[in-house]
Amino acid sequence: MTENSIIELKNVSKHYDSTNVVDNFNLKIKKGEFVTFLGPSGCGKTTTLRMIAGFELPDEGQILLNGEDISYLPPYKRPVNTVFQKYALFPHLDVYDNIAFGLKLKKVSDGDKMRRLTTDEIDEKVRNALKIVDLEEYEWRNISTLSGGQQQRIAIARAIVNEPEILLLDEPLGALDLKMRKDMQLELKEMHKKLGITFIYVTHDQEEALTLSDTVVVMKDGMIQQIGSPEEIYNEPENAFVANFIGESNIYSGTIAGEKKVRFINHVFDCVDEFPKNEKVDVVIRPEDVRLKKDDDESLVKGKIVSKIFKGIHYEYILMVGRNEIVVVDTKDREVGKTYGLQIKPDGIHIMKKELHTNTYTDAYIDKNNKVVISDAAFDCDITKLVKGSRLEEDGTVTGPDGTSYDFTDADVIAEIGLTDIEILDYVEDATVSGTIVSIIYKGDHYQLTIRTEQDEDFVLDTEYTYDENDVVGLKVKAKDISLKLKGEAKKYAKK
Ligand SMILES: Nc1ncnc2c1ncn2[C@@H]1O[C@H](COP(=O)(O)OP(=O)(O)OP(=O)(O)O)[C@@H](O)[C@H]1O
Ligand SMILES: [Mg+2]
Repeated sequence: MTENSIIELKNVSKHYDSTNVVDNFNLKIKKGEFVTFLGPSGCGKTTTLRMIAGFELPDEGQILLNGEDISYLPPYKRPVNTVFQKYALFPHLDVYDNIAFGLKLKKVSDGDKMRRLTTDEIDEKVRNALKIVDLEEYEWRNISTLSGGQQQRIAIARAIVNEPEILLLDEPLGALDLKMRKDMQLELKEMHKKLGITFIYVTHDQEEALTLSDTVVVMKDGMIQQIGSPEEIYNEPENAFVANFIGESNIYSGTIAGEKKVRFINHVFDCVDEFPKNEKVDVVIRPEDVRLKKDDDESLVKGKIVSKIFKGIHYEYILMVGRNEIVVVDTKDREVGKTYGLQIKPDGIHIMKKELHTNTYTDAYIDKNNKVVISDAAFDCDITKLVKGSRLEEDGTVTGPDGTSYDFTDADVIAEIGLTDIEILDYVEDATVSGTIVSIIYKGDHYQLTIRTEQDEDFVLDTEYTYDENDVVGLKVKAKDISLKLKGEAKKYAKK
Protein backbone atom coordinates (compact mmCIF):
# COMPACT_ATOMS: atom_id res chain seq x y z
CA MET A 1 0.00 0.00 0.00
CA THR A 2 1.52 3.27 -1.09
CA GLU A 3 -0.46 5.12 1.61
CA ASN A 4 1.72 3.63 4.31
CA SER A 5 5.06 4.07 2.66
CA ILE A 6 6.91 7.37 2.70
CA ILE A 7 9.21 6.31 -0.13
CA GLU A 8 8.50 3.76 -2.78
CA LEU A 9 10.78 2.67 -5.59
CA LYS A 10 8.86 1.08 -8.42
CA ASN A 11 10.71 -0.85 -11.14
CA VAL A 12 13.61 1.59 -10.86
CA SER A 13 16.54 0.94 -13.19
CA LYS A 14 19.66 2.91 -13.92
CA HIS A 15 22.36 2.09 -16.41
CA TYR A 16 25.73 3.59 -17.19
CA ASP A 17 26.91 2.75 -20.68
CA SER A 18 25.50 -0.73 -21.17
CA THR A 19 25.65 -2.01 -17.57
CA ASN A 20 22.60 -2.01 -15.36
CA VAL A 21 23.91 -0.70 -12.05
CA VAL A 22 20.41 -0.69 -10.56
CA ASP A 23 18.15 -3.31 -12.02
CA ASN A 24 14.36 -3.27 -11.56
CA PHE A 25 14.45 -2.16 -7.95
CA ASN A 26 11.18 -2.46 -6.03
CA LEU A 27 11.04 -1.31 -2.44
CA LYS A 28 8.62 0.29 -0.02
CA ILE A 29 9.94 2.17 2.97
CA LYS A 30 7.64 2.98 5.86
CA LYS A 31 7.60 6.29 7.65
CA GLY A 32 9.99 6.24 10.59
CA GLU A 33 11.71 3.05 9.47
CA PHE A 34 15.48 2.46 9.64
CA VAL A 35 16.28 0.79 6.33
CA THR A 36 19.75 -0.29 5.31
CA PHE A 37 21.08 -1.07 1.84
CA LEU A 38 23.72 -3.72 2.30
CA GLY A 39 25.93 -5.17 -0.39
CA PRO A 40 29.45 -5.44 -1.74
CA SER A 41 31.30 -2.58 -3.36
CA GLY A 42 29.85 -1.56 -6.70
CA CYS A 43 26.44 -3.20 -6.20
CA GLY A 44 24.59 0.08 -6.70
CA LYS A 45 23.92 1.28 -3.14
CA THR A 46 25.12 4.84 -3.62
CA THR A 47 23.43 5.10 -7.01
CA THR A 48 20.09 4.08 -5.48
CA LEU A 49 20.53 6.57 -2.67
CA ARG A 50 21.42 9.34 -5.12
CA MET A 51 18.24 8.67 -7.07
CA ILE A 52 16.21 8.99 -3.87
CA ALA A 53 18.03 12.25 -3.11
CA GLY A 54 17.48 13.52 -6.65
CA PHE A 55 21.15 13.82 -7.66
CA GLU A 56 20.61 11.10 -10.23
CA LEU A 57 17.60 10.35 -12.42
CA PRO A 58 16.30 6.83 -12.97
CA ASP A 59 16.31 5.58 -16.57
CA GLU A 60 13.19 3.57 -15.88
CA GLY A 61 10.62 3.33 -13.13
CA GLN A 62 9.36 5.75 -10.55
CA ILE A 63 10.23 7.10 -7.15
CA LEU A 64 7.20 7.97 -5.07
CA LEU A 65 7.12 10.19 -1.99
CA ASN A 66 3.93 9.71 0.02
CA GLY A 67 2.42 8.25 -3.13
CA GLU A 68 3.44 11.11 -5.43
CA ASP A 69 5.90 10.71 -8.27
CA ILE A 70 9.05 12.70 -7.46
CA SER A 71 11.35 10.97 -9.95
CA TYR A 72 12.15 14.27 -11.66
CA LEU A 73 11.85 16.67 -8.72
CA PRO A 74 15.12 18.56 -8.11
CA PRO A 75 17.02 17.64 -4.92
CA TYR A 76 16.33 20.87 -3.04
CA LYS A 77 12.59 20.36 -3.36
CA ARG A 78 12.73 16.95 -1.71
CA PRO A 79 12.34 16.63 2.09
CA VAL A 80 15.56 14.69 2.12
CA ASN A 81 19.07 15.36 3.42
CA THR A 82 22.20 13.34 2.88
CA VAL A 83 25.22 12.56 5.04
CA PHE A 84 28.19 11.31 3.06
CA GLN A 85 31.07 9.03 3.93
CA LYS A 86 33.56 11.86 3.95
CA TYR A 87 32.24 14.60 6.17
CA ALA A 88 32.18 17.53 3.82
CA LEU A 89 32.49 20.23 6.48
CA PHE A 90 33.83 23.73 5.86
CA PRO A 91 37.22 23.78 7.58
CA HIS A 92 37.33 27.57 7.85
CA LEU A 93 34.01 27.82 9.71
CA ASP A 94 33.39 26.83 13.32
CA VAL A 95 30.87 24.23 14.42
CA TYR A 96 28.02 26.70 14.74
CA ASP A 97 28.49 28.21 11.29
CA ASN A 98 28.88 24.81 9.69
CA ILE A 99 25.52 23.74 11.03
CA ALA A 100 23.82 27.09 10.44
CA PHE A 101 25.13 27.42 6.88
CA GLY A 102 22.04 26.07 5.14
CA LEU A 103 19.64 27.79 7.53
CA LYS A 104 21.04 31.23 6.75
CA LEU A 105 20.13 30.77 3.09
CA LYS A 106 16.78 29.22 3.77
CA LYS A 107 13.51 31.08 3.28
CA VAL A 108 10.30 30.21 5.06
CA SER A 109 6.78 31.30 4.26
CA ASP A 110 5.32 33.85 6.64
CA GLY A 111 1.72 34.57 5.72
CA ASP A 112 1.85 35.38 2.01
CA LYS A 113 5.52 36.45 2.06
CA MET A 114 8.80 34.56 2.19
CA ARG A 115 11.35 35.62 4.78
CA ARG A 116 14.68 34.52 6.16
CA LEU A 117 14.97 32.89 9.56
CA THR A 118 15.77 35.23 12.48
CA THR A 119 19.01 34.86 14.44
CA ASP A 120 17.05 33.50 17.39
CA GLU A 121 15.33 30.90 15.25
CA ILE A 122 18.63 29.78 13.79
CA ASP A 123 20.18 29.69 17.27
CA GLU A 124 17.47 27.44 18.56
CA LYS A 125 17.66 25.04 15.63
CA VAL A 126 21.45 24.76 15.84
CA ARG A 127 21.34 24.13 19.60
CA ASN A 128 18.70 21.47 19.08
CA ALA A 129 20.71 19.72 16.42
CA LEU A 130 23.82 19.80 18.61
CA LYS A 131 21.83 18.32 21.46
CA ILE A 132 20.71 15.42 19.30
CA VAL A 133 24.28 14.59 18.26
CA ASP A 134 25.41 15.08 21.85
CA LEU A 135 27.87 17.94 21.23
CA GLU A 136 26.11 20.75 23.07
CA GLU A 137 29.21 22.57 24.29
CA TYR A 138 30.99 22.54 20.96
CA GLU A 139 29.39 25.47 19.12
CA TRP A 140 32.48 27.67 18.90
CA ARG A 141 35.03 24.95 18.32
CA ASN A 142 37.11 24.94 15.21
CA ILE A 143 36.41 21.98 12.89
CA SER A 144 40.08 21.01 12.76
CA THR A 145 40.18 20.50 16.54
CA LEU A 146 37.50 17.80 16.45
CA SER A 147 38.01 14.04 16.26
CA GLY A 148 36.77 12.11 13.24
CA GLY A 149 33.74 10.88 15.15
CA GLN A 150 32.88 14.37 16.35
CA GLN A 151 33.23 15.76 12.83
CA GLN A 152 30.89 13.10 11.54
CA ARG A 153 28.37 14.03 14.21
CA ILE A 154 28.59 17.66 13.09
CA ALA A 155 27.90 16.48 9.53
CA ILE A 156 24.82 14.68 10.83
CA ALA A 157 23.76 17.76 12.82
CA ARG A 158 24.06 19.82 9.65
CA ALA A 159 21.80 17.40 7.82
CA ILE A 160 19.14 17.15 10.52
CA VAL A 161 19.01 20.87 11.26
CA ASN A 162 16.92 21.23 8.10
CA GLU A 163 14.38 18.88 9.65
CA PRO A 164 14.20 16.48 6.73
CA GLU A 165 11.56 13.77 6.69
CA ILE A 166 14.13 11.36 5.40
CA LEU A 167 17.81 11.22 6.27
CA LEU A 168 20.07 9.44 3.79
CA LEU A 169 23.36 8.19 5.18
CA ASP A 170 25.95 6.84 2.76
CA GLU A 171 28.54 4.88 4.76
CA PRO A 172 28.73 7.72 7.28
CA LEU A 173 31.01 5.74 9.59
CA GLY A 174 33.31 4.47 6.85
CA ALA A 175 36.19 6.75 7.76
CA LEU A 176 36.15 5.98 11.49
CA ASP A 177 38.18 3.40 13.37
CA LEU A 178 36.47 0.30 14.74
CA LYS A 179 35.95 1.53 18.32
CA MET A 180 34.53 4.85 17.15
CA ARG A 181 32.28 3.07 14.66
CA LYS A 182 30.77 0.92 17.41
CA ASP A 183 30.09 3.99 19.59
CA MET A 184 28.62 5.91 16.68
CA GLN A 185 26.38 3.00 15.71
CA LEU A 186 24.72 3.12 19.11
CA GLU A 187 24.40 6.88 18.89
CA LEU A 188 22.85 6.71 15.44
CA LYS A 189 20.24 4.33 16.75
CA GLU A 190 19.51 6.75 19.60
CA MET A 191 19.26 9.65 17.16
CA HIS A 192 16.88 7.72 14.99
CA LYS A 193 14.67 7.10 18.00
CA LYS A 194 14.79 10.72 19.16
CA LEU A 195 14.11 12.20 15.73
CA GLY A 196 11.43 9.72 14.70
CA ILE A 197 12.21 10.28 11.01
CA THR A 198 13.01 7.78 8.29
CA PHE A 199 16.67 6.73 7.95
CA ILE A 200 17.97 5.16 4.76
CA TYR A 201 21.44 3.91 5.46
CA VAL A 202 24.11 2.45 3.21
CA THR A 203 26.85 0.11 4.32
CA HIS A 204 28.84 -2.87 3.14
CA ASP A 205 29.35 -3.98 6.75
CA GLN A 206 26.87 -6.73 7.58
CA GLU A 207 27.30 -6.43 11.32
CA GLU A 208 26.51 -2.74 11.17
CA ALA A 209 23.42 -3.42 9.06
CA LEU A 210 22.14 -6.06 11.48
CA THR A 211 22.79 -3.86 14.54
CA LEU A 212 21.12 -0.73 13.26
CA SER A 213 18.24 -1.61 11.03
CA ASP A 214 14.57 -2.40 11.18
CA THR A 215 14.83 -3.64 7.62
CA VAL A 216 17.84 -4.76 5.63
CA VAL A 217 17.88 -4.76 1.83
CA VAL A 218 20.64 -7.07 0.59
CA MET A 219 21.88 -6.12 -2.87
CA LYS A 220 24.12 -7.70 -5.47
CA ASP A 221 24.85 -6.43 -8.98
CA GLY A 222 22.10 -3.81 -8.76
CA MET A 223 19.48 -6.34 -7.81
CA ILE A 224 17.70 -6.93 -4.53
CA GLN A 225 18.57 -10.36 -3.13
CA GLN A 226 16.42 -10.23 -0.03
CA ILE A 227 14.44 -7.74 2.04
CA GLY A 228 13.81 -8.58 5.68
CA SER A 229 14.38 -7.89 9.34
CA PRO A 230 17.91 -8.56 10.61
CA GLU A 231 16.66 -11.82 12.16
CA GLU A 232 15.03 -12.98 8.92
CA ILE A 233 18.09 -12.16 6.88
CA TYR A 234 20.37 -13.97 9.30
CA ASN A 235 18.24 -17.00 10.09
CA GLU A 236 16.47 -17.51 6.79
CA PRO A 237 18.75 -16.35 4.00
CA GLU A 238 16.99 -16.81 0.69
CA ASN A 239 20.06 -17.79 -1.27
CA ALA A 240 23.72 -18.65 -0.89
CA PHE A 241 24.82 -15.07 -1.63
CA VAL A 242 22.83 -13.65 1.28
CA ALA A 243 23.96 -16.44 3.58
CA ASN A 244 27.56 -15.80 2.71
CA PHE A 245 27.31 -12.05 2.98
CA ILE A 246 25.51 -12.09 6.31
CA GLY A 247 27.93 -13.45 8.80
CA GLU A 248 30.55 -16.06 8.45
CA SER A 249 29.10 -19.15 6.84
CA ASN A 250 30.20 -22.43 5.41
CA ILE A 251 28.60 -22.97 2.02
CA TYR A 252 28.79 -26.20 0.06
CA SER A 253 27.28 -27.69 -3.03
CA GLY A 254 25.20 -30.66 -1.99
CA THR A 255 22.87 -33.30 -3.30
CA ILE A 256 19.73 -34.61 -1.64
CA ALA A 257 20.58 -38.20 -0.76
CA GLY A 258 17.18 -39.41 0.38
CA GLU A 259 14.33 -38.46 2.66
CA LYS A 260 15.67 -35.65 4.88
CA LYS A 261 19.20 -36.58 3.97
CA VAL A 262 21.74 -34.40 2.23
CA ARG A 263 25.22 -35.23 0.99
CA PHE A 264 28.03 -32.67 1.07
CA ILE A 265 31.73 -32.73 1.95
CA ASN A 266 31.55 -36.42 0.97
CA HIS A 267 29.28 -37.35 3.85
CA VAL A 268 25.56 -37.87 4.29
CA PHE A 269 23.91 -35.73 6.99
CA ASP A 270 20.38 -35.74 8.40
CA CYS A 271 18.52 -32.52 7.70
CA VAL A 272 15.05 -31.10 8.32
CA ASP A 273 14.15 -29.87 4.83
CA GLU A 274 12.51 -32.14 2.32
CA PHE A 275 13.60 -31.98 -1.29
CA PRO A 276 13.33 -34.49 -4.12
CA LYS A 277 16.11 -37.06 -4.17
CA ASN A 278 19.17 -36.10 -6.27
CA GLU A 279 18.19 -32.42 -6.29
CA LYS A 280 21.24 -30.15 -6.36
CA VAL A 281 21.25 -27.76 -3.42
CA ASP A 282 23.35 -25.17 -1.63
CA VAL A 283 24.05 -26.09 1.97
CA VAL A 284 24.78 -23.39 4.54
CA ILE A 285 26.27 -24.15 7.95
CA ARG A 286 26.88 -21.45 10.55
CA PRO A 287 30.22 -21.85 12.35
CA GLU A 288 28.42 -21.88 15.70
CA ASP A 289 26.31 -24.87 14.63
CA VAL A 290 29.24 -27.27 14.37
CA ARG A 291 30.30 -29.20 17.50
CA LEU A 292 33.74 -30.70 17.76
CA LYS A 293 33.66 -34.24 19.20
CA LYS A 294 36.28 -36.92 19.85
CA ASP A 295 37.51 -38.45 16.61
CA ASP A 296 36.68 -42.05 17.60
CA ASP A 297 32.99 -41.82 16.68
CA GLU A 298 32.64 -43.76 13.42
CA SER A 299 29.42 -42.02 12.40
CA LEU A 300 30.94 -38.53 12.35
CA VAL A 301 32.88 -36.97 9.50
CA LYS A 302 36.43 -36.11 10.53
CA GLY A 303 38.21 -32.80 10.24
CA LYS A 304 41.69 -31.60 11.14
CA ILE A 305 42.35 -28.16 12.62
CA VAL A 306 44.60 -26.16 10.32
CA SER A 307 44.13 -22.72 11.80
CA LYS A 308 43.07 -21.10 15.04
CA ILE A 309 42.31 -17.48 15.85
CA PHE A 310 41.36 -16.15 19.26
CA LYS A 311 38.37 -13.83 18.89
CA GLY A 312 37.98 -12.54 22.43
CA ILE A 313 35.13 -14.72 23.67
CA HIS A 314 35.71 -17.72 21.46
CA TYR A 315 38.16 -19.32 19.09
CA GLU A 316 37.62 -19.54 15.37
CA TYR A 317 38.99 -22.75 13.92
CA ILE A 318 39.37 -23.81 10.32
CA LEU A 319 39.26 -27.56 9.80
CA MET A 320 39.99 -29.46 6.63
CA VAL A 321 37.56 -32.21 5.69
CA GLY A 322 39.21 -33.78 2.68
CA ARG A 323 39.78 -30.78 0.42
CA ASN A 324 36.94 -28.81 1.97
CA GLU A 325 37.35 -26.19 4.67
CA ILE A 326 34.89 -25.74 7.48
CA VAL A 327 34.92 -22.79 9.86
CA VAL A 328 33.92 -23.61 13.43
CA VAL A 329 33.65 -21.38 16.47
CA ASP A 330 34.13 -22.86 19.89
CA THR A 331 34.96 -21.53 23.36
CA LYS A 332 37.42 -24.34 24.11
CA ASP A 333 41.13 -23.94 23.47
CA ARG A 334 42.19 -26.67 21.04
CA GLU A 335 45.40 -27.55 19.25
CA VAL A 336 46.19 -27.03 15.60
CA GLY A 337 46.84 -30.38 13.92
CA LYS A 338 44.32 -32.35 15.98
CA THR A 339 41.50 -34.31 14.38
CA TYR A 340 37.91 -34.14 15.57
CA GLY A 341 34.56 -35.64 14.65
CA LEU A 342 32.16 -32.97 13.41
CA GLN A 343 28.63 -33.02 14.71
CA ILE A 344 26.05 -30.88 12.94
CA LYS A 345 22.46 -31.07 14.17
CA PRO A 346 19.79 -31.41 11.46
CA ASP A 347 18.35 -27.95 12.19
CA GLY A 348 21.80 -26.43 11.80
CA ILE A 349 21.87 -27.51 8.17
CA HIS A 350 20.21 -24.91 5.96
CA ILE A 351 19.34 -26.10 2.50
CA MET A 352 18.58 -23.86 -0.45
CA LYS A 353 17.43 -24.93 -3.85
CA LYS A 354 20.03 -24.31 -6.45
CA GLU A 355 19.10 -23.19 -9.91
CA LEU A 356 21.54 -25.37 -11.73
CA HIS A 357 23.08 -23.71 -14.76
CA THR A 358 26.53 -25.17 -14.42
CA ASN A 359 28.38 -27.87 -12.54
CA THR A 360 30.58 -26.24 -9.94
CA TYR A 361 33.48 -28.11 -8.39
CA THR A 362 34.83 -26.20 -5.43
CA ASP A 363 37.53 -28.68 -4.49
CA ALA A 364 39.29 -29.07 -7.82
CA TYR A 365 43.01 -28.52 -8.29
CA ILE A 366 45.65 -28.29 -10.99
CA ASP A 367 48.08 -31.19 -11.33
CA LYS A 368 51.68 -31.09 -12.54
CA ASN A 369 50.57 -31.65 -16.14
CA ASN A 370 48.40 -28.52 -16.05
CA LYS A 371 45.24 -30.59 -16.02
CA VAL A 372 42.37 -29.88 -13.67
CA VAL A 373 41.55 -32.72 -11.30
CA ILE A 374 37.88 -33.22 -10.53
CA SER A 375 36.83 -36.36 -8.70
CA ASP A 376 40.26 -37.97 -9.18
CA ALA A 377 40.01 -37.53 -12.95
CA ALA A 378 42.38 -35.17 -14.77
CA PHE A 379 40.64 -33.06 -17.44
CA ASP A 380 42.43 -31.08 -20.11
CA CYS A 381 41.91 -27.40 -19.44
CA ASP A 382 43.21 -24.00 -20.39
CA ILE A 383 45.14 -22.77 -17.35
CA THR A 384 45.82 -19.38 -18.91
CA LYS A 385 42.25 -18.67 -17.76
CA LEU A 386 43.66 -18.31 -14.27
CA VAL A 387 45.40 -15.04 -15.12
CA LYS A 388 43.77 -12.60 -17.50
CA GLY A 389 45.85 -11.90 -20.59
CA SER A 390 48.42 -14.59 -19.80
CA ARG A 391 50.10 -17.14 -22.09
CA LEU A 392 51.37 -20.68 -21.67
CA GLU A 393 55.11 -21.30 -22.03
CA GLU A 394 56.67 -24.49 -23.39
CA ASP A 395 57.90 -25.48 -19.93
CA GLY A 396 54.33 -25.41 -18.65
CA THR A 397 54.56 -22.16 -16.72
CA VAL A 398 52.20 -19.28 -17.33
CA THR A 399 53.39 -15.75 -18.04
CA GLY A 400 51.14 -12.90 -17.01
CA PRO A 401 50.67 -9.70 -19.03
CA ASP A 402 53.13 -7.94 -16.70
CA GLY A 403 55.82 -10.60 -17.26
CA THR A 404 55.25 -12.44 -13.94
CA SER A 405 55.80 -16.17 -14.25
CA TYR A 406 53.41 -18.57 -12.46
CA ASP A 407 53.56 -22.25 -11.64
CA PHE A 408 50.06 -23.51 -10.84
CA THR A 409 50.99 -27.07 -9.86
CA ASP A 410 48.74 -28.08 -6.97
CA ALA A 411 46.77 -24.82 -7.02
CA ASP A 412 43.25 -25.12 -5.59
CA VAL A 413 40.67 -23.95 -8.08
CA ILE A 414 36.95 -23.75 -8.63
CA ALA A 415 36.03 -25.43 -11.91
CA GLU A 416 32.76 -24.90 -13.72
CA ILE A 417 31.30 -26.91 -16.57
CA GLY A 418 28.09 -26.05 -18.37
CA LEU A 419 25.30 -28.60 -18.55
CA THR A 420 25.53 -28.81 -22.32
CA ASP A 421 29.32 -29.00 -22.40
CA ILE A 422 29.67 -32.55 -21.12
CA GLU A 423 29.80 -35.22 -23.77
CA ILE A 424 28.52 -38.74 -23.02
CA LEU A 425 30.47 -41.64 -24.50
CA ASP A 426 29.24 -45.19 -24.64
CA TYR A 427 32.84 -46.41 -24.64
CA VAL A 428 34.24 -45.79 -21.23
CA GLU A 429 37.82 -46.32 -22.51
CA ASP A 430 37.77 -43.03 -24.46
CA ALA A 431 36.41 -41.03 -21.54
CA THR A 432 38.13 -38.87 -18.94
CA VAL A 433 35.89 -40.14 -16.19
CA SER A 434 33.07 -42.64 -15.94
CA GLY A 435 30.08 -43.03 -13.71
CA THR A 436 26.60 -44.38 -13.23
CA ILE A 437 23.45 -42.55 -14.26
CA VAL A 438 21.66 -41.97 -10.96
CA SER A 439 18.85 -39.75 -12.15
CA ILE A 440 17.04 -38.81 -15.32
CA ILE A 441 14.69 -35.85 -15.35
CA TYR A 442 12.63 -35.02 -18.44
CA LYS A 443 12.75 -31.25 -19.04
CA GLY A 444 10.20 -30.88 -21.81
CA ASP A 445 12.52 -31.07 -24.80
CA HIS A 446 15.55 -32.78 -23.31
CA TYR A 447 16.69 -34.95 -20.45
CA GLN A 448 18.81 -33.87 -17.52
CA LEU A 449 21.04 -36.67 -16.33
CA THR A 450 23.06 -36.92 -13.16
CA ILE A 451 26.09 -39.16 -13.45
CA ARG A 452 27.83 -40.15 -10.24
CA THR A 453 31.46 -41.21 -10.28
CA GLU A 454 33.07 -43.78 -8.02
CA GLN A 455 34.45 -40.88 -5.97
CA ASP A 456 30.85 -39.81 -5.36
CA GLU A 457 31.13 -36.68 -7.48
CA ASP A 458 28.16 -35.72 -9.65
CA PHE A 459 28.18 -34.49 -13.22
CA VAL A 460 24.89 -33.06 -14.42
CA LEU A 461 24.29 -32.68 -18.13
CA ASP A 462 21.56 -31.99 -20.64
CA THR A 463 21.05 -34.35 -23.53
CA GLU A 464 18.38 -35.08 -26.10
CA TYR A 465 19.18 -38.80 -26.20
CA THR A 466 17.57 -41.36 -23.97
CA TYR A 467 19.48 -43.39 -21.45
CA ASP A 468 18.49 -45.70 -18.65
CA GLU A 469 19.09 -45.28 -14.96
CA ASN A 470 22.09 -47.30 -13.74
CA ASP A 471 23.76 -47.24 -17.18
CA VAL A 472 27.50 -46.83 -16.86
CA VAL A 473 28.75 -44.11 -19.21
CA GLY A 474 31.96 -42.22 -19.90
CA LEU A 475 32.26 -38.43 -19.84
CA LYS A 476 34.47 -36.01 -21.72
CA VAL A 477 34.73 -32.22 -21.72
CA LYS A 478 36.61 -29.96 -24.13
CA ALA A 479 39.38 -27.94 -22.49
CA LYS A 480 37.81 -24.65 -23.58
CA ASP A 481 34.53 -25.55 -21.86
CA ILE A 482 35.98 -25.79 -18.37
CA SER A 483 36.10 -22.44 -16.68
CA LEU A 484 38.60 -22.00 -13.89
CA LYS A 485 38.91 -19.67 -10.96
CA LEU A 486 41.78 -19.64 -8.48
CA LYS A 487 41.06 -19.93 -4.79
CA GLY A 488 43.16 -17.17 -3.29
CA GLU A 489 45.39 -14.79 -5.14
CA ALA A 490 47.54 -15.59 -8.17
CA LYS A 491 50.61 -14.03 -6.59
CA LYS A 492 50.78 -17.02 -4.26
CA TYR A 493 51.91 -19.02 -7.32
CA ALA A 494 54.29 -16.45 -8.78
CA LYS A 495 57.83 -17.74 -9.26
CA LYS A 496 60.51 -15.72 -7.55
N1 LIG B 1 28.62 8.33 -12.97
C1 LIG B 1 28.92 7.08 -13.26
N2 LIG B 1 29.35 6.71 -14.50
C2 LIG B 1 29.64 5.43 -14.79
N3 LIG B 1 29.54 4.42 -13.92
C3 LIG B 1 29.13 4.70 -12.68
C4 LIG B 1 28.80 6.03 -12.28
N4 LIG B 1 28.41 6.01 -10.99
C5 LIG B 1 28.51 4.72 -10.59
N5 LIG B 1 28.93 3.94 -11.61
C6 LIG B 1 29.13 2.48 -11.56
O1 LIG B 1 27.95 1.89 -11.09
C7 LIG B 1 28.22 0.80 -10.23
C8 LIG B 1 27.53 1.02 -8.90
O2 LIG B 1 28.13 2.10 -8.22
P1 LIG B 1 27.71 2.58 -6.76
O3 LIG B 1 28.52 3.77 -6.43
O4 LIG B 1 26.24 2.74 -6.71
O5 LIG B 1 28.15 1.33 -5.89
P2 LIG B 1 28.14 1.14 -4.31
O6 LIG B 1 27.29 -0.05 -4.05
O7 LIG B 1 27.78 2.40 -3.62
O8 LIG B 1 29.65 0.74 -4.03
P3 LIG B 1 30.65 1.17 -2.82
O9 LIG B 1 30.35 0.24 -1.68
O10 LIG B 1 32.00 0.89 -3.39
O11 LIG B 1 30.42 2.61 -2.51
C9 LIG B 1 29.74 0.72 -10.13
O12 LIG B 1 30.17 -0.28 -11.00
C10 LIG B 1 30.20 2.10 -10.57
O13 LIG B 1 31.46 2.02 -11.17
MG1 LIG C 1 28.90 3.77 -2.43
